Amino acid sequence: MTRPADLRRFARAERWVHWLIAMLVLTCMVTAAILYNGSLAVLVGNRRIVEIVHVYSGFALPVPLVLGLASRAYRADLSRLNRFTHADRLWFRSKTRRLAGTGVGKFNAGQKLNAALSAGSILALLGTGTLMFFPDWTRLAWRTGATLMHDWFALAFGILVLGHLMYALRDREAMRGMLTGDVSQSWAAAEHELWATQQEPTDESS
Ligand code: HEM
Repeated sequence: MTRPADLRRFARAERWVHWLIAMLVLTCMVTAAILYNGSLAVLVGNRRIVEIVHVYSGFALPVPLVLGLASRAYRADLSRLNRFTHADRLWFRSKTRRLAGTGVGKFNAGQKLNAALSAGSILALLGTGTLMFFPDWTRLAWRTGATLMHDWFALAFGILVLGHLMYALRDREAMRGMLTGDVSQSWAAAEHELWATQQEPTDESS
């Protein structure tokens, strides 16, 4: 619900992209765990269906990411996430990892790093997964390498996603931002000082 003096943090298109990616990634993670663990696979039963759900959820990942490009707000946030500034370097060096007088904009340096690592992991998992899915495309040595890379990237990305989830569950206002689009001015001023000073409060009628 929009409250007086809320600030608009994420547009509807951005929230759709975020939650579709979250759903697809979580589906890939759960099905991967079943495929990897023999006793889980026996418990669930139909391994072939689990495999199909895993592969197609993976192949679907780029779809929301590309469709989102139609939204101006999404494109603007992508370029914010893509740009590391001097303030970000200060943020990384600061002991408290908080404002530390570094002038945090819409995203802090940790969030930018998370976005870059997530995008890189998705690309690596898609690439190696494609080589595993089309065995005739490459030699056995490539497929063996791709399988090993796929497993290690899956583990690393899984840990990254769990970390992201832990931060998200601890911060109710950030979660409200991703669910409804709006955050309070006080939260924005405390967490994203520079961005908060540049925003107009959300119009309740819009
Ligand atoms: C169910 C799982 C997830 C929850 C509850 C969740 C929650 C959130 C929340 C609350 C924000 C807003 C942070 C802010 O306003 O500063 C956010 C941002 C973001 N999320 Fe998620 N998320 C989930 C899964 C994912 C996954 C799987 C990915 C990527 C593969 C992802 C990528 C991002 C990115 C790139 C941002 C913007 C930068 C950042 O805040 O790190 N999220 N998420």
